[in-house]
Amino acid sequence: VLDDYLNWERYLIRSEVDLPEEYQYQGRLYRLAPADRLYIAGMGGSGVVGDLIRDLSFVWGWPFEAVVVKDYFFRGGDGLMLAVSYSGNTVETITAAAAALRRGMPVIAITTGGKLAEMGIPTIKVPKASAPRAALPQMLTAALWTLRKIYGVNFDTPSSLPYDERLADRLVKTLGARPTIVAPVSMQGLAYRVKNEANENAKLDPSVEVLPEAHHNWIEGASGPIMAMTSPDIPAEHRTRVRLTVDLLSGEVFEVPMTVGGILTFLKHVGIATVKIALARGIDPLKTPRIDELKRRLP
Ligand code: F6R
Repeated sequence: VLDDYLNWERYLIRSEVDLPEEYQYQGRLYRLAPADRLYIAGMGGSGVVGDLIRDLSFVWGWPFEAVVVKDYFFRGGDGLMLAVSYSGNTVETITAAAAALRRGMPVIAITTGGKLAEMGIPTIKVPKASAPRAALPQMLTAALWTLRKIYGVNFDTPSSLPYDERLADRLVKTLGARPTIVAPVSMQGLAYRVKNEANENAKLDPSVEVLPEAHHNWIEGASGPIMAMTSPDIPAEHRTRVRLTVDLLSGEVFEVPMTVGGILTFLKHVGIATVKIALARGIDPLKTPRIDELKRRLP
């Protein structure tokens, strides 16, 4: 898994994806046209693609409302859905995708295979990695190229994701202390990804608090260490909220450019740092036995 993170740039998709303008599914016609609402269904390491697209679409004003779906149940109306599942076998994602199709909504799959790849809907197959969370570059860029094709959105494709040992060390220290990760709404997806990496690689349980809402409740109860996230690219209102939090409570501030390159470079360091924490604790960063056991026990 460490090798995967170190080689992330190799997995970035750098060219357009092939998609039809329309397709037939179970005798019905679906058109892949821009819709005001974009649903992104997916769980865990695949679901983060939706979280990050929501952050990016907010920061860069993309021409759709990004709605993240992390459940079996899908009750949405008009729109377009991306169903992202590394394995292609995640029951919540497959069920939500089937529900969207029943409602006449076009669905595009992003996966390495599994049942999702066999549904007979447009599917972008991405290369495998050691774990779903390690396949973020290929899943995220596959989703972004899909959005380029349908909505014409612009994004950067970084040529490298440079490694900085000092940043990794700072993350080891900060995340090892099980902080509350504090981020504004515009960086919420990024904050959850940091938490998830600490959960799955390091087997730690930091929490996430989102601003400005957390200024109306959490701030009164806050007691532990704080990891604050900010960016030069987010609205001034959000930057101010982060600054005021750290002024009042102190905390380690991480500034992340909200570009594809900025996000993936930071998350590569988070991946490496959480693997380092696991190894220092004598834990296998790759194995996720509770997640596997839960999936086995599901009916
Ligand atoms: C991450 C991980 C999980 C899975 C999640 C959904 O490395 O193992 O968070 O991503 O259980 O499974 P997939 O990604 O196969 O849809």
